[in-house]
Amino acid sequence: MTATTNPRVRFTDLHPAQTDLAQAVLSGLARTPKRIEPKFFYDAQGSELFETICAQPEYYPPDAEREILETHSAEIAAALGSGCVLIEPGAGSAAKVRLFLDQLQPSAYVPLDISGDFLLQAAHDLAEDFPWLDIHAACIDFAHSLRLPEQLPETHKVAFFPGSSLGNFEPADALTFLQEVYTAVGPGGGLLIGIDIPKDQAILNAAYNDAAGVTAAFNKNLLTRIRNELDSDIDPEQFDHLAFYNTELNRIEMHLKSRRAQHVQINNQSFHFAPGETIHTECSYKYAPEPFQNMARQAGFQPRHTWLDRRGLFSVHYCSAPE
Ligand code: AVJ
Repeated sequence: MTATTNPRVRFTDLHPAQTDLAQAVLSGLARTPKRIEPKFFYDAQGSELFETICAQPEYYPPDAEREILETHSAEIAAALGSGCVLIEPGAGSAAKVRLFLDQLQPSAYVPLDISGDFLLQAAHDLAEDFPWLDIHAACIDFAHSLRLPEQLPETHKVAFFPGSSLGNFEPADALTFLQEVYTAVGPGGGLLIGIDIPKDQAILNAAYNDAAGVTAAFNKNLLTRIRNELDSDIDPEQFDHLAFYNTELNRIEMHLKSRRAQHVQINNQSFHFAPGETIHTECSYKYAPEPFQNMARQAGFQPRHTWLDRRGLFSVHYCSAPE
């Protein structure tokens, strides 16, 4: 981690409870079918692996979204309005925001992430490249609360939610989240959001089954976390990565599939797996432009612009919150 302290970078730990992992794993594995929420992928190692997924040729969203943000940066900056407080839930490495910061000139950038060390590093790296930028980083589980750090400039707020992260929520929860964003930005605010679009299954299946096996490693890292952070004999080698597009529900599903019948001990509790039984670890819902715009309207927003990449694989929407 960067040792220097940059006066333009502030860091607030809003404490995403660490006991969460044990609780989530024990209750999730007691359910039928077994499941663990995707937010538990993102320890420091998981965040690194996600960055590596984004560099895989099969995983098209980052390139498609980058193309949109680059091509339309002037129009995007005009829509958001300069001097805004730009809030990014789940900022990770804060790579996307770099594409339009110069045009946008926000009064502050507020990256929020569950992975504190990773976030702090990203904030310092960003500060080096954008020395004029005020950064108010906060470690928080944004799915749990959209609490913002104190002492933000008093100007209009815009949430930036790229990467189709909204797809991780069940549709009803996605609507609730958009309503929370609407409340957090307030009247006069806005939302710039990246949304993956339903498409040919072959493209989708390849994107979540990259040839280099990075998505598989990312999925299995959840088991490594259980073994390292909880009192457990779980062996990641005894599970396979499984990812496929569910055409009826417009979602990718990721699972960890037990290679054989096995018992696993976690914190003095025993869990049985039948051969081929899975732990459902992620859903990634895809929305065509209209269904997304309808959901945004239901949350109170007015859809203003929708941009697609040249190949029509991915979308970025700007929605405003009426005064
Ligand atoms: C970060 C949730 C947008 O669903 O595509 C990538 C996570 N999982 N490969 C996605 C992910 C497997 C990603 N999101």
